[in-house]
Amino acid sequence: MRLTVRLGARSYPILFGRGAHGAIGGLLAGEGIRRAVILTQVRIAALHSNAILDSCRAAGIEAAVRLLPDGEEAKTLAVVEGLYRDFMELGVDRWTAVVALGGGVTGDTAGFAAGTWMRGVPFFQVPTTLVAQVDSSIGGKVAVNLPGAKNVVGVFHQPRAVLADPACLKTLPEREYRAGLSEVVRSAAIRDSVLFRRLEGSLEALRDRNEEFLEEVVVRSAAVKARIVAADEREERDLRALLNYGHSLGHAVEAAAGYGRYLHGEAVAIGMAAAARLACREGICGPRTLERQLILLKGLELPVTISDLSSGAILNSLKLDKKNKGGMTRFVLTPRIGHARVFTGLDPVRLVEAGFQS
Ligand SMILES: NC(=O)c1ccc[n+]([C@@H]2O[C@H](COP(=O)([O-])OP(=O)(O)OC[C@H]3O[C@@H](n4cnc5c(N)ncnc54)[C@H](O)[C@@H]3O)[C@@H](O)[C@H]2O)c1
Ligand SMILES: [Zn+2]
Repeated sequence: MRLTVRLGARSYPILFGRGAHGAIGGLLAGEGIRRAVILTQVRIAALHSNAILDSCRAAGIEAAVRLLPDGEEAKTLAVVEGLYRDFMELGVDRWTAVVALGGGVTGDTAGFAAGTWMRGVPFFQVPTTLVAQVDSSIGGKVAVNLPGAKNVVGVFHQPRAVLADPACLKTLPEREYRAGLSEVVRSAAIRDSVLFRRLEGSLEALRDRNEEFLEEVVVRSAAVKARIVAADEREERDLRALLNYGHSLGHAVEAAAGYGRYLHGEAVAIGMAAAARLACREGICGPRTLERQLILLKGLELPVTISDLSSGAILNSLKLDKKNKGGMTRFVLTPRIGHARVFTGLDPVRLVEAGFQS
């Protein structure tokens, strides 16, 4: 299966399917690239780097592997500086590709390094987590963190191609996998009611990580992101903001709980549940639209209610959220499944209250 992210001269393919990693060598060679730096993490290297290295070798591409630390801590300027030193030593230039093999942490850090080194060198994404396959590898937003502030130092640097193999998802830790499903629900809720219905009817296939079904789910979710990015690459219209469904409150919950307690996708599940309750209370959606979202999230064993946190702390982080542009509170809500819109003028206190309901 193949999708295209349509961005004029910078358009790029997303290749899905078992064995997709084997295409990397041919893609690089096709772009006149002679060398590759594979950036990954130790566990991912052990599980999933062979196909990439074999494919590079077969295409005559000289490949070097460099390991990033694990976890959100890897997304720092210090790690990026280490990468610049590697790039200098390896002579990374316009004919060298930076290949991110891993989840969103690897993709964001590698992409930021690739996007800033010599004002941008060719970049390829090989996403190995569900979050990365349906979300972070597509769209070219790459960033690192400062202490206490996520994703604040970044650039736009689109990849030349994305290669997503659903077989990788089999080795994901259970909790990471479930948290990734939250972003799938997000994409379905905002723009794909058919996918939403497929998810509702396939909890068992999702639980078993049925490869065929996962490929369908990943392709449809990635397609939502690809369409939105193509229409609003730099979040200049409301469209790209729709991807933030569940994220305003989600980020606030993550921050108030202290990073690490909730996985991002778990906090987003709470955020979507709260947004759905608020929409229902305000008469923006009907009770069935609310109920379907709660049932699906619970069916995926994702949290839908804030526990053990004070509403004051959450409200403070919500107000600091960079997405509340110019002091105006903007919430993404779904009047109907698959049809999200941005609403303004709603009281953040009501959203936080909705997060505490069960
Ligand atoms: N750039 C964007 O548009 C965008 C969008 C969404 C999220 N993000 C970012 O993505 C990051 C989260 O990404 P993530 O959820 O992929 O987490 P992650 O990259 O930290 O990966 C989660 C864990 O799974 C391991 N792992 C990865 N693939 C594996 C596999 N196939 N088998 C076994 N283990 C594997 C990783 O080593 C890591 O320990 C956050 O920093 C977030 O800000 C960016
Ligand atoms: Zn997210």
